[in-house]
Amino acid sequence: MTTAALEVGAASIATPAPFTPSRVVPPKRPQGRLRFAVDFLRNPLASIPQAVYERDFVAYDKGRVPLVWITDPAYIKMVTLDRVPDFSKAAQKRILGPLLGNGILTAEGQEWKWQRQTSAPMFRHQDLAAMVAPIVQATENYVARLSLDPAGEAREGSHDMTRVTFDVISATLLPGGTGDMEAAIERSTGKFQDSTGWTLLYALANLPQWMPRPGKKVGRQNIQMLRGSVHSLIARRRALAAKPDDLMQRLMDAKSPETGAQMSDEQLVDNLLTFYLAGHETTAKSLTWTLYLLSRAPEWETRILDEVHRVVGGGSVKAEHIDKLKITQQVIKESMRLFPPAPQFGRMALKDCAFGPHQIKAGTQVMIPIYAIQRHTKYWTNPDQFDPARFEPEKEAKIPRYQYMPFGAGPRICIGMAFAMMEATAILATLVRAARFKVDATHNPEPISRVTLVPKGGMPMHVTRRP
Ligand code: HEM
Repeated sequence: MTTAALEVGAASIATPAPFTPSRVVPPKRPQGRLRFAVDFLRNPLASIPQAVYERDFVAYDKGRVPLVWITDPAYIKMVTLDRVPDFSKAAQKRILGPLLGNGILTAEGQEWKWQRQTSAPMFRHQDLAAMVAPIVQATENYVARLSLDPAGEAREGSHDMTRVTFDVISATLLPGGTGDMEAAIERSTGKFQDSTGWTLLYALANLPQWMPRPGKKVGRQNIQMLRGSVHSLIARRRALAAKPDDLMQRLMDAKSPETGAQMSDEQLVDNLLTFYLAGHETTAKSLTWTLYLLSRAPEWETRILDEVHRVVGGGSVKAEHIDKLKITQQVIKESMRLFPPAPQFGRMALKDCAFGPHQIKAGTQVMIPIYAIQRHTKYWTNPDQFDPARFEPEKEAKIPRYQYMPFGAGPRICIGMAFAMMEATAILATLVRAARFKVDATHNPEPISRVTLVPKGGMPMHVTRRP
């Protein structure tokens, strides 16, 4: 890392030169239909034109279905908060539906509401505090395993983070997940994620669901396997005499306020899979990108290390430390600004409507490109630069609500937001104190949208345990 010297009187203070991490290079102009499709399949973020990073509203009218990207906070508020029933999750349902059925992430209306109400109590602040110990334990287990591996070899950091966060979700919200299931989830989600580009492209092109597309058969087999392992988990739980009070049990016991019906096994599988997947892949990606950033900006690594020593001392991170780990949280927030783990989501307009002067027709796909919003030239100074100081409390308070939204917004905001922030803070603090994570200086991976934001070519890291 280069440094610039600031002359202050006779003394000179070294200030780190700002670091600009890897990014997606947007096309200068909206592309023709074929180019759009090619870029979209490679990386959906690569088909977002430059104008989306500069303007409030950009329309793409060369496709079979009209598509718009919105970045203006007022427009985003309209879609995610003010007029929720007028915008549907149709495309999300088409991509995720085969895997996640009609669970909390994909359902709409009353069907969604009671699933959300049933799950919400598990995410209360006071209940979350009890989960810090198992989160830290899972991280310490990972650190302990590191010493068993051959020194000097690069590790796949994103794979490591997925393992840690899977262990966390299995030890907290959804106890009972086995090693077999972890392997099945990893295998199936990899295959599933690879095929999502095609599914979304088909949805945007308004092609019928039955049409063949690459990866469809393999995808279906993987989904069956994965859903099968969750069915077995449910059967094992039903056979238990003493039932624990956890998210799985609450979902099993819940009754619809409308009909009094309990969830069928299929609905339970929908929700359990939703929580398994939404609840660990996203946080894993947030940690992966954060370790990459710290590897390139070691002054922030040092600041975190100092903070952990000051706040936590020599023992394990505990619930009472989380709110005091402010610099650690600033770094995570800035990492999620530059590399939002869920980089883009969309809604389909069910009625004709207007965004300011822009009219759109019913059936238009309205994209909310979190990645571009959080790097928008109108809202951020030096948008591509890594600068966790943006999230110092007094500065963070001035960031408008719909300008920074890694967890979405409105009633469909991520239910696991507080859990994820707490988890990422506890894991990062534990990891940074225990080891150094170095990504090769030449590896600056392009962020690729595969439902979550993955680094192209992975994130190979050299990990050295601190003495
Ligand atoms: C860094 C971590 C995470 C990020 C960035 C993230 C991001 C998001 C986003 C953007 C949405 C909104 C999608 C939309 O409106 O279409 C969402 C929804 C959701 N997330 Fe997360 N998430 C994270 C962690 C978690 C965790 C830890 C859990 C559960 C343990 C979770 C469970 C869910 C669920 C169930 C929904 C659907 C909520 C609803 O529709 O009512 N997420 N997440």
